[in-house]
Amino acid sequence: MNKEFDVLVVGSGIAGLSFALKVAEAGHSVAIVTKKDSAESNTNYAQGGIAAVTSDTDNVEMHVADTLEAGDGLCDEEAVREILRCGAESIEELIKRGVDFTQLRDGRVSLGKEGGHSKRRILHVKDITGKAIEKALLHGIHHSPNITTYEHHFAIDLITARKLRENGHTVAMEGSGDRVLGIYALDTEKEVVETFAARAVLLATGGIGQIYQYTTNPFIATGDGIAMAYRAGVEIRNMEFIQFHPTALYAAGSDRFLISEAVRGEGAILRNLDGEAFMPGYDERKDLAPRDIVARAIDSEMKKKGARHVQLDITGRPAEALRDRFPNIYDTCEKHGILLERDPIPVVPAAHYLCGGVKTALDGSTDLAGLYACGEVACTGLHGANRLASNSLLEAVVLANEGAKSVANYLASTHEPLPALPNWVDGEMRDSDERVVLLHNWDELKRVMWDYVGIVRTTKRLERARTRIRNLSREINDYYWNFKVEPALLELRNMIQAAELVIDCALQRKESRGLHYTLDYPDKSPTPIDTWVRSRRQR
Ligand code: FAD
Ligand code: SIN
Repeated sequence: MNKEFDVLVVGSGIAGLSFALKVAEAGHSVAIVTKKDSAESNTNYAQGGIAAVTSDTDNVEMHVADTLEAGDGLCDEEAVREILRCGAESIEELIKRGVDFTQLRDGRVSLGKEGGHSKRRILHVKDITGKAIEKALLHGIHHSPNITTYEHHFAIDLITARKLRENGHTVAMEGSGDRVLGIYALDTEKEVVETFAARAVLLATGGIGQIYQYTTNPFIATGDGIAMAYRAGVEIRNMEFIQFHPTALYAAGSDRFLISEAVRGEGAILRNLDGEAFMPGYDERKDLAPRDIVARAIDSEMKKKGARHVQLDITGRPAEALRDRFPNIYDTCEKHGILLERDPIPVVPAAHYLCGGVKTALDGSTDLAGLYACGEVACTGLHGANRLASNSLLEAVVLANEGAKSVANYLASTHEPLPALPNWVDGEMRDSDERVVLLHNWDELKRVMWDYVGIVRTTKRLERARTRIRNLSREINDYYWNFKVEPALLELRNMIQAAELVIDCALQRKESRGLHYTLDYPDKSPTPIDTWVRSRRQR
């Protein structure tokens, strides 16, 4: 039996939850399908905050100018203006939902500063902004009668009219065009695949950081939504623009914990291992230059000195002040024996954010009827070739609101009943000896991406990566069609797909721009283009 809802939301970060709340408030039934516990998301780890114009000394045009400057000629200016114009309103909405942004002693909201921003405009909850947002939104979700949440449900693929017809099913619906009809999702606790039918589906599955060996992203960030959309023939664009955050904690044998850019906003200085502050030699904005510039400068300093890391220095400040402003960072560093007031923090760049993704209009719609995308999975044109710090949480809230309005119109225009959807047919085999293939390929993919598709690229390295990853793709697809599906297999298949798309787009771009820097084309082309990829789909 199909589970049937008006709208399905895949993912429970800021994008999925904000959208679900709006759609449910308009009276529609919503299912949220999320692959782990609801809170587990990139959102939950966001530190610096959310950028919006809320102070008298700032204005939207300045925020627009900073965003365009960081985006390096590739932003969609209309998208930038539309999204940033809604900044203050989105903050009001988050406050109404229960987000308690940090205030100064005099009661004014505390505004942080990050790279590329000409003003202090980052609202934050200490250095745990994402956790506070996630908690407030989940509170709303738990109290909504129109929302059903399916935790530990892994969305495998979109069900579309075209795919059903191609597989010989009769699809009783008006017209012969393509449209999304639902999803297949693996209940990872019961180990069964369920069929969810819906008139509209939102992809809010976040980013792809896990395709790299070193990343600030949690394990959920495996590019599932990008891969699903690609397989459904939806246009994906600008995948080469991977943002490497300049400052992740360098600690052997540990994940790359983020050291927020807000720490530099409060005066921390990057130094090489000889203690020299090197950023003035790279950009007049020094340590607060946009991220692409700072990450490349660190990469270059590390290569020059043969060092494994550089240092971020905020020593000499009172311990209480540092602990109060950055409690999460302070505690984590202390666990590694680093006292912020005493010791420079060893830092390295790590894969952090995907600027490209599923191409969406400003209402979150994609080029497949009924399919919407929002948050890090989507590419609206706001970020261009490089995202301005703390613009992503804002983009997710604004697009979720616009998407919810658009979905309401779409639902009003499609009254026909959903066709019955066929059940999932699984491969029966399960061979534990072969699981080593998953582990090996997982490691290999991450290493190849780190070594050949990193901060500084060349065509030769990209081509080498493409050859390796095509082999991994062949192997994993054989595995996929023959074995029973399980999360590790599904994630690896999606990660490999996402990696292929990054490389395809990177090879299309014959210039260096924003986050894509290649030694073979070090200059910027005079006419910026968007790169794009799409799998075959009959229209
Ligand atoms: P996520 O929050 O990543 O949520 C994705 C959801 O989809 C998760 O619930 C996941 O489990 C689910 N999911 C994924 N695949 C599937 C599947 N196949 N089936 C079912 N569910 C699935 N941005 C800022 O603007 N300001 C900041 O201060 C900031 N700090 C950051 C700090 C860190 C450490 C990181 C990693 C990112 C930071 N970012 C920041 C970026 C920002 O957090 C993310 O871009 C944003 O939270 C993405 O939100 P989202 O809702 O699109 O995706
Ligand atoms: C940070 O706090 O440095 C992360 C901010 C972001 O990724 O926007």
